[in-house]
Amino acid sequence: MCGIVGYIGRRDATPILFKGLRRLEYRGYDSFGVATVGSALEVYKKTGRISDNEAEVACLRGSTGIGHTRWASYGEPTVINAHPQTDCDERIAVVHNGVIENYNELKRQLQERGHIFRSETDTEVIAHLIEEHYEGDLLAAVNATLAYLQGSYAILVVMEDAQRIVAARNASPLVLGVGDSEFFAASDLMPLLDYTERVIYLEDGDVADITPNRLDIYHDGQRVERPIELINWRVEDARKGGFAHYMQKEIFEQPQSFYETIRAGIDEHTRRMIMDANEITLVACGTSYHTTLIFKYLIEPLCNVSVRAEMGSEFKYFTPPLNGLVIAVSQSGETTDTIAALSMAKAHNCPTLAITNVQGSTITRVADRTLLMRAGPEIGVAATKSYTAQLAALMQIINLRCDGAFDDVLSHAHLAIGDVLLYDVRDAATLCSKANHAFFVGRGPFYPVSMEGALKMKEISYVHAEGYAAGELKHGPFALLTPETPVVAICTPGPTYSVMVSNIKEIKARKAPVIAIGVDGDKELAEIVDVFIPIPNTHLLVQVLTTSVVLQLLAYHTACALQRDIDRPRNLAKSVTVE
Ligand code: F6R
Repeated sequence: MCGIVGYIGRRDATPILFKGLRRLEYRGYDSFGVATVGSALEVYKKTGRISDNEAEVACLRGSTGIGHTRWASYGEPTVINAHPQTDCDERIAVVHNGVIENYNELKRQLQERGHIFRSETDTEVIAHLIEEHYEGDLLAAVNATLAYLQGSYAILVVMEDAQRIVAARNASPLVLGVGDSEFFAASDLMPLLDYTERVIYLEDGDVADITPNRLDIYHDGQRVERPIELINWRVEDARKGGFAHYMQKEIFEQPQSFYETIRAGIDEHTRRMIMDANEITLVACGTSYHTTLIFKYLIEPLCNVSVRAEMGSEFKYFTPPLNGLVIAVSQSGETTDTIAALSMAKAHNCPTLAITNVQGSTITRVADRTLLMRAGPEIGVAATKSYTAQLAALMQIINLRCDGAFDDVLSHAHLAIGDVLLYDVRDAATLCSKANHAFFVGRGPFYPVSMEGALKMKEISYVHAEGYAAGELKHGPFALLTPETPVVAICTPGPTYSVMVSNIKEIKARKAPVIAIGVDGDKELAEIVDVFIPIPNTHLLVQVLTTSVVLQLLAYHTACALQRDIDRPRNLAKSVTVE
């Protein structure tokens, strides 16, 4: 998704802005741009990737500036459509995250009044509206403009001759960093880590007027105070640290992020909320949705509570009858569909809990309570350590509802995760890298684990993969099985073991190669499959974790074999802030 950065202070703004934009690269982008205010307003925009020496090439002057990485929505990824967008006279520059829903209407009206548009973006209307309302005071002009905008926005505005940034937020994240006689602004914490640990999260409806020595925040025209909070992430966490890819580093960080999330525990208020729930509904998207399905499979047979796992994107339009606790699960805390579902739950007066990795994210402002995962910054687009940290949070809820029955299991689970990290899955990866299609199958909680394995495979290797409940393959997908269609099967001891073995034999009879993940020493399984990946024979909760990590490694090595852009897969964004 688009990212924005801003700087105002005494330093040269350009290198700070480009460094900030590089920190936001993980969100995905196709073009970028920067505007600075020195003796004049200068704008620099380009398509493609930001190079190491972009600040020197851009050669902009000034110690006030704004920058943007754009992920095209309205209009192609071109230089003209890149942000900053400017007014007719190119005196005002705006960067914007979000969507201005009524921009067509506003654009038509502005054109009728003589404004000349250059781009196809919704953002450009903001620059022209500010121009129209400007009577000597940029803050007043931005305030007047906001009254016309429908939709979501986080904006930064600069103007020639003014050492000032005006920032505004509505339903799109914006965080300010506080330095000594300098301020930073960004759409998430990553660009701030290099400069300050003191941050202010703007609320929806806030407008900030920022000069090097002063920050004033207004809400509904009134000056308001917003607390300065300390960031709990370190800049080292955002570096690759010798690994080939962020994804690989993040896979290897899982023992620690799982352990830290377990160690952080659940506060007393949240515990009470969980214990009081007769019914639990979870809402999430993508990988996070898979963790909610795993939770449902695990908790229902253990505790007397009925659980529903719902996709955020469906929930808003097809809302089930709501009673009891609603838990929204989101790594970023910014996923629009998940937040919309959470807001609906609030409108139904349900108690709400957010499980997220990002302190201060939008979801934490909407939910009644937050259970913070301790995964640290996740930069690879593919969720890995946040997935297992979500499972850590959700497994703690299971443990709580089961009177601490899994205390011991959970406090040692990180060791088992560590054990599988060094597995050599290259044989299996070679098989997958030669395929155009693959299936991932499992039963019970391993069905959503398979869905997650397939999602990881397709998003980073581009090998088409589907996760299926193992018993469902024969109801249609069998028609697709060929010697070129590998099937990854999770087959661990338990009530479904023998039926899984039968399923695997059926698959083999259709000549599809099988890669099986089973427990160490399972000779029967090892003999009937093409590649056998043994995991330690541990508790079910731990097997869910270790099989998941093996599937992450499989996707990672397949993508390496195919030389994909692993940390920035095509067409994907890290944080999905549109419907
Ligand atoms: C896949 C992936 C996505 C996210 C989804 C939800 O690897 O990362 O499927 O899980 O976009 O994102 P969050 O958890 O930030 O709400």
